Amino acid sequence: MTHEKIIILDFGSQYTQLIARRVRELNIYCEIYPFNKLLVIDEDVKAVILSGSPFSVRDKNSPVPNLKNIKGKLPLLGVCYGAQYLAKNSGGEVLPSKIREYGRANLSYVNNGNILFTDVPNGSQVWMSHGDTISTLPSNFEIIASTKDVKVAAYKIENEETYAIQFHPEVYHSTDGKQILQNFLVDVAGCTQDWTPSSFVEDTVNELKEKLGNDKVVLGLSGGVDSTVAAVLLHKAIGENLYCIFVDNGLLRKDEFESVLKQYHGMGLNVKGVNAKDRFYEKLAGLTDPENKRKAIGGTFIDVFDDESNLIKDVKWLAQGTIYPDVIESISATGGPSATIKSHHNVGGLPDYMKLKIVEPLKTLFKDEVRRIGKSLGIDAELLGRHPFPGPGLAIRILGDINSEKVRILQEVDHIFISSLKKDGLYDSVWQAGAIFLPVQSVGVMGDERTYENAVALRAVESTDGMTADWVHLPYEFLAKVSNEIINKVKGINRVVYDISSKPPATIEWE
Ligand code: XMP
Repeated sequence: MTHEKIIILDFGSQYTQLIARRVRELNIYCEIYPFNKLLVIDEDVKAVILSGSPFSVRDKNSPVPNLKNIKGKLPLLGVCYGAQYLAKNSGGEVLPSKIREYGRANLSYVNNGNILFTDVPNGSQVWMSHGDTISTLPSNFEIIASTKDVKVAAYKIENEETYAIQFHPEVYHSTDGKQILQNFLVDVAGCTQDWTPSSFVEDTVNELKEKLGNDKVVLGLSGGVDSTVAAVLLHKAIGENLYCIFVDNGLLRKDEFESVLKQYHGMGLNVKGVNAKDRFYEKLAGLTDPENKRKAIGGTFIDVFDDESNLIKDVKWLAQGTIYPDVIESISATGGPSATIKSHHNVGGLPDYMKLKIVEPLKTLFKDEVRRIGKSLGIDAELLGRHPFPGPGLAIRILGDINSEKVRILQEVDHIFISSLKKDGLYDSVWQAGAIFLPVQSVGVMGDERTYENAVALRAVESTDGMTADWVHLPYEFLAKVSNEIINKVKGINRVVYDISSKPPATIEWE
């Protein structure tokens, strides 16, 4: 089944994905494409949005889209750069702003008679971020909103459904931004707002049934949200023909393998737990370089997975929990015409001889949408709310070489930290947390004895996507309690420190 959709043409703005999320929050499906992608505009496409850009339309190399099949034929909304491009391209003038407009402003004039501004009050706060201003508009353009400093804050082209706004409706600080997008998408473009978690599940399950028929599919479960939701969707479509493999690489959190496996069984999944700890420890023995450790883990995972999938007769497909941010084609940082595909941390690639076709049921979804789909599928809220956890697991949180004893110690420390976060109601306000085993020994004193034992660091960060992050200001009392408990209970640790670095310039993980 096809679904109505909106196309967002990306000129490289940092906010493009945010536009997509706002559109989807209105229960309207959309896709992002680079501005220079040749598009098929079929009847499912209800409207097109042009994004902002780090470029100025006055730059010699500024991005130029081909709107031949779009402008005047479909509802079109230009945002920021998109607005300036449309104006300039029709003979308007765009000049450098006298003052660079950045941040909050208020609409001092709003044409409420215009459909784009229905229910948007005079004085509405908007978010500006541009270095150029539209100074002259062609005569068939009508100004429909202004701020004190920006006369052309929004316009409409006469006799066509082309609208443009200088500010960013997708940004939270534009208080009526969502209303404006809704006015455009629903009232101008006629979208029906029927893209919901349950319609997604229904459509996807039908598509999967059709695509996979009676074929067998293998999927590696990780305990994370994406692979779990992908598994439940596939299971709904093809039942026992989905073979899930959950590998214990010996680098998971304390008791995680057993408890997650039990949950998977409880969900009715056809899942096999594989204890491959020793194979991983053997391959990791003596390795200290982080990238070598990652490669050893990735390689061993493929070997184990390959062995296991060979035990399944006639398997034809490999399912993956790939999500939208991993596959969006983004325009290159220099804005050049070359389109690049973002590479993904975990796509290690499979050996060619496996010859499996790939199925990725979540590849159109953002992370929070995967959670929502998971919820509508009835997956346990605790599982859906879990912090992200890196594929190489505790191996990249034990600095230097790894052995099972260090893993055991770190598991204990991590368990105390994470369960305390949960107990004190802090877990859900933290994006990711964990402990790091440092290759440092320090002097301590316990009772009458001096000790010379290891130090651990605790890390807790706030983030939305892991690209940037800030350390969480956990209460001192909480940190004191956790530190005491770790030092008292975990033999081998006599010092606890808290990591107060932000990303950038630091990273979330230490390796
Ligand atoms: P960094 O350390 O780069 O981490 O700031 C950003 C996010 O990525 C996770 N991470 C990884 N995830 N394989 C993964 O699957 C890896 O090799 C890896 N390295 C870092 C990290 O936990 C954080 O969420």
